[in-house]
Amino acid sequence: MRVRILGSAAGGGLPQWNCACDGCTTARRSGANRTQDGVAVTGDGTAWYLINASPDLRTQLLSTGDLDPGPGRRDTPIRGVLLTTAELDHTIGLFGLREAERLDVYATPTILAALPAVPILRRYTDLHLHELTGEPLTLDGGLTVHALTVGAKRPRYADPGRGDAWVSALRLLDQRTGRSFVYATCLPTWTDAFDAFLAGADVALLDGTFSTEDEPARAAGLTRTPRDMGHLPIADALPELRHHPGVRFLFGHLNNTNPFAAGPAPVDVAHDGQELLL
Ligand code: MLT
Ligand code: MN
Ligand code: ZN
Repeated sequence: MRVRILGSAAGGGLPQWNCACDGCTTARRSGANRTQDGVAVTGDGTAWYLINASPDLRTQLLSTGDLDPGPGRRDTPIRGVLLTTAELDHTIGLFGLREAERLDVYATPTILAALPAVPILRRYTDLHLHELTGEPLTLDGGLTVHALTVGAKRPRYADPGRGDAWVSALRLLDQRTGRSFVYATCLPTWTDAFDAFLAGADVALLDGTFSTEDEPARAAGLTRTPRDMGHLPIADALPELRHHPGVRFLFGHLNNTNPFAAGPAPVDVAHDGQELLL
């Protein structure tokens, strides 16, 4: 299995267009650039799936040669999009895929029912929706995907609707090699269910939005804490990692207030364009 980090920042990216915080200012000066969270994954090197579709998706696709179209004029190696939340930083990019001849979207029933992009995209492309319910689903290229609901934080634009499976972690298994990748960039708490879901994975991309519980207050004067925002800080996840010595952990979805986004980091932080071989 190959996993390509398309973007490694939280909503807004780094730097964020209207932000003059220390992190964004440093990034502007140094040229550091992180686009918004998402990855591409393949089992056979031919059939690719996107996990999340950020507002930066066009730029991300154009800088990833493996995702170039062809040989037919409208052929694309992208077989579908797996969504882990319905938040705008994970879903705006769906609109940019409207030129597809066919588009397959995988998400929980809660997310599929809420997404503004769904009724709109139906008018542009042959849209196929696939429900992630907790049962494993077979994908092209020898992959299997399994979803675990990890949070119930509803996007601000959405009304209460079909259930509360708003935030998922995904586990992708390469049936040929037995290797697996866990994607959990929005993780409100480290539950026993998540711990079991993660056990035995080869690589896990975790929630790196905030470094510590007091970061939003210190860096941006916010009263809302990482937990209020549905993001377990890195410092609070670290003790849990020791129980999984065989897993390679990386942190993604870094907020621009996170000092590890633009500076040195004591943990393994994902970078745009990085490729992980499992
Ligand atoms: C999040 O990751 O918590 C959301 O993307 C926040 C937001 O965009 O409002
Ligand atoms: Mn986000
Ligand atoms: Zn900033």
